[in-house]
Amino acid sequence: MSGLLIELLNKRYSIRDFKNKKISQNIISYILNAGRMAPSGGNEQPWKFGIIDEKYMIYRVSEYTYGQKWINKAPLIIALCTETSKVEYAKKLQSVRFPKLKHKISNMDDELFKMLNMEEHQTKIAGTLMMLAALEKGVYSTWVSKFQSYRISRLLGLPDGFIVSELLVLGYPRENKKFSPKKNLSDITFYNRCLDKKEIFMKKIIEIQPSQLYISERKLDFALKSIRKNGFDKKRPLPLLRIKGKDTFSDGHTRALAALMEETEEIPVYYDKDDLNIQMYEICIKWCQEERIFGIDDLKERIVSHKKYKELWLDRCKKMREKLKKSQNEKH
Ligand SMILES: Cc1cc2nc3c(=O)[nH]c(=O)nc-3n(C[C@H](O)[C@H](O)[C@H](O)COP(=O)(O)O)c2cc1C
Repeated sequence: MSGLLIELLNKRYSIRDFKNKKISQNIISYILNAGRMAPSGGNEQPWKFGIIDEKYMIYRVSEYTYGQKWINKAPLIIALCTETSKVEYAKKLQSVRFPKLKHKISNMDDELFKMLNMEEHQTKIAGTLMMLAALEKGVYSTWVSKFQSYRISRLLGLPDGFIVSELLVLGYPRENKKFSPKKNLSDITFYNRCLDKKEIFMKKIIEIQPSQLYISERKLDFALKSIRKNGFDKKRPLPLLRIKGKDTFSDGHTRALAALMEETEEIPVYYDKDDLNIQMYEICIKWCQEERIFGIDDLKERIVSHKKYKELWLDRCKKMREKLKKSQNEKH
């Protein structure tokens, strides 16, 4: 599918050789406005954008970029500056994301934490939007992270609590375009679970134990339509659990039944690594076995309206989960 944004991105590359041409104030304002509109956590907008357009200042900034002399020739640098003062809040945030490291995070030296945590201050999003707005106006840019942050922050006279986190170097290109190769989508994307090809294998549908008692007619219709149109989507293999020596569906019963109804014998599957409540699955399997459901084909007789599916299956599971939770809480 094509679209304006992808057309624009197809033209983008990092520029390091500039025409001797200034960028008009109108365009600079347009670029800055794009950054201003960027999302930020809690809408805090913890940033300042420094417009470096004087020759001497550009030269001084470039002096702190470890020999990247090409920067000196740019007509404009936007210094993306980040507010770093809220260290307690940021530490709490990171502890929530990485509970195992909570102790280490809270004991970490505040200054070190602030600097390493700069990435969390979201100037990257604002900078990316600026990059796109610039490109739309024919102005190319290069993202620069290799520089002495304290030195440039002092040079720009940033107040305490602010630090330069990124530099966006902008101008009109002089050189021939230098596009860097990009990886294929299939090499960098995954649907729902990041599985290695080796983890996926083919398995006969009828050999897999269900862990579900009913199928929703509505969901089945949807799955059947999709399979009839595109075949079984191999990008979405079904998850299995190995319980008591038997491969059991942890999810995907509807798709499995739809595949079987469409004469598919084998489907791609993988072993689920999610921290699932196995006790819950054992109960579901027991229910299935009590009702003589040993394979997906046994569910053909148990296709019910979506409303009934909710009542008979989802509500039953919910009650079972609550009961399990209660008994686990009592034990502790
Ligand atoms: C976080 C980040 C830091 C970068 N730092 C530098 C830098 O210090 N100097 C530089 O010349 N390019 C820098 N770049 C530009 C990359 O080298 C460039 O994006 C990459 O080679 C891909 O090329 P393209 O942008 O033309 O697609 C940086 C890019 C990113 C995203």
